[in-house]
Amino acid sequence: MPINESVIAGDVVRPTHVEVNRTRLAENFQAIRSHAPDCKIMPVLKANAYGHGLVEVARLMQTLKADYIGVAVLEEGMLLRQAGIEMPILVLGGVLGNQIPHFLEYNLTITASSRETLTHINEAAGKAGVRARVHLKIDTGMERIGVHYYNAAPFLESAAQCPYIFVEGIFSHFANSEKADLTHARLQLERFNRVLTFYQDHGLKPPPTIHMANSGAILQLPEARFNMIRPGILMYGVYPSHEVKRSVPVKPALTWKSRVVYFKVIQPGHPVGYGSTWQTDHPIHAVTIPVGYGDGYFRSLSHKARVVLNGRSYPVIGTVSMDQIVVNIEQDSAYNNDPVILIGEMNQARISCEDMAGWAGTIAYEILTNINTRVPRIYVD
Ligand SMILES: Cc1ncc(COP(=O)(O)O)c(C=O)c1O
Repeated sequence: MPINESVIAGDVVRPTHVEVNRTRLAENFQAIRSHAPDCKIMPVLKANAYGHGLVEVARLMQTLKADYIGVAVLEEGMLLRQAGIEMPILVLGGVLGNQIPHFLEYNLTITASSRETLTHINEAAGKAGVRARVHLKIDTGMERIGVHYYNAAPFLESAAQCPYIFVEGIFSHFANSEKADLTHARLQLERFNRVLTFYQDHGLKPPPTIHMANSGAILQLPEARFNMIRPGILMYGVYPSHEVKRSVPVKPALTWKSRVVYFKVIQPGHPVGYGSTWQTDHPIHAVTIPVGYGDGYFRSLSHKARVVLNGRSYPVIGTVSMDQIVVNIEQDSAYNNDPVILIGEMNQARISCEDMAGWAGTIAYEILTNINTRVPRIYVD
């Protein structure tokens, strides 16, 4: 059998893989759409579609007639164009002057977050004989990219005067919309609304697309929807925090699976794994699972995580290696090839990515985006 990338990606070789349920994704998308029926939707597909697979998720979004796709970096947009995705794509991150010709060539919408960027875009588009599609980024309280709300007027004025720029949108981003306390989110919203009065005050039409709401705001701040929403984690069926109001019913679309590759009995006095950090005081049955931090199974899960095997949950023992973990199944039995769930459910036993985030001391976003490309993605309906 010839070994190449497609063999690896086709799960012929590796028992460890991620299964993405397209029906779940579609149901989540429709649930969000019904929650905000008057808004356009820009699903956010950055970081390999939160680990779910950039191109496959984009294809699904195209079928579902999403209005826009949001990605973080130029290369993600270029990959989507190369894969034949024709929908409008906004690159949400900052842009450097030498990247602009690529945006134009690949027909990607540019985030402009300074007057200097506007000048570069206008010049490059003029040279190329096209009109660049641009969304203006306003910083209302995140301090990442964007023109501060209190300096926005000259920025909006400049944008309106660039002949080679079509200002299609204006947007901002919340720092705290997933919190129970929405004081800061409301302050950001008020600042953004104040920026938007520029258009009325100057007798100008506002850009056709105005957007601010990420998952937290979609769930908790209906007044922040404007005419487009940008769901990320919610579309993948995960809530952005424990505090957030669960006003849209969604379910996880991703299951992380593996299989037992080794069974043994471990005796007292025989520690497990690098650093010999764990040992038993009585003979136990243990199994080895072929997944590790080289796949994005965090090393900080050592001694904390659990996996599901034969419908029951068992603890990971010893340190997580790059490619393997060891699981204590006490006196139970298991056989090579038995299926294992790392994230997901089997019978009544369930491990959520929020559980894993808690064990690893991080957030669900990082668990999902950290599952790396060595782990094949398989799509089911
Ligand atoms: C600008 C922007 N919009 C929307 C999102 C989606 O956020 P969430 O996954 O919380 O819905 C992100 C992700 O961080 C973002 O950076």
